[in-house]
Amino acid sequence: MIIAIDGPAGAGKSSVARAVAERLGARYLNSGAMYRAVALASIEDASRTPAELAAAIQIEVGRRVLLDGRDVTAAIRAPEVSAQASLIATDPDLRSALVSQQRELLATGDWVAEGRDIGTVVAPHADLKIFLTASEAERAKRRGEAVGARDRRDATRIHSPLQPAADARLLDSTSLTLDQVVEQIVNLAETGVAGR
Ligand code: CDP
Repeated sequence: MIIAIDGPAGAGKSSVARAVAERLGARYLNSGAMYRAVALASIEDASRTPAELAAAIQIEVGRRVLLDGRDVTAAIRAPEVSAQASLIATDPDLRSALVSQQRELLATGDWVAEGRDIGTVVAPHADLKIFLTASEAERAKRRGEAVGARDRRDATRIHSPLQPAADARLLDSTSLTLDQVVEQIVNLAETGVAGR
C-alpha cells in the first residue's frame, strides 16, 4: 500500500506521515529531505549542476539523513537550505533523477511518502492521496518563518508544481491537532483497503 501526502511547507506533512506510517506498520519516505540534501551539496559545491550532484552523491533518508555517509539531518533544516531546495527543485533533470530514486524505494513494501509531487508524479497509482493544507498564517506560525515565497515558487514552477492530484482528498489541518489528522488518514486508509 502506498499513501501519498503532499502539501505546502508547514502543513504538518512530516509529523503526520511519520505517525501514519507507524500506525500502519509502513515505511516513511520524506522526499523533501532528498531535495534538501542536494541543495546542501550545491551550496557546498557550486561548480556542478544539481543534477550532476544528484548523480554523484549518495543520499540516505531514514531516521537520519546521510549525504555521502555524513549526518546532515540538522544541517538540511537551515533556512538557506530550504530556499536553495526550492530553487533547485525547478530543474527537471534534478527532478527526474530524484523521482527515479523515489520510485525505486516505493517499488517494494508499504509506504507513506510525503512531498510536493508524490500523488501527481512519483506515485500516481497510490492507494490513498492526501493534499494536506493549513492557512498561510498558521503554517508560518508552526515554522517560525515566512513560507509564502517558497510556496509560491513551488506552486508556480513549470515542472511538477505543487498541486493536488485530481483524486486527492483535501485535508485542512489549520484547526486540527496532529492526532486528529492522523486519525482521519488512518481511517481513510483502513476503509479504502477494506473496500478493495
Ligand atoms: O518540510 P517542508 O514542507 O518545509 O519542505 P520539504 O518537504 O523538506 O521540501 C523542501 C523543498 O523541496 C520544497 O520547498 C520544494 O521546493 C522541494 N520539494 C519538491 O520539489 N518536491 C518534493 N517531492 C519534495 C520537496
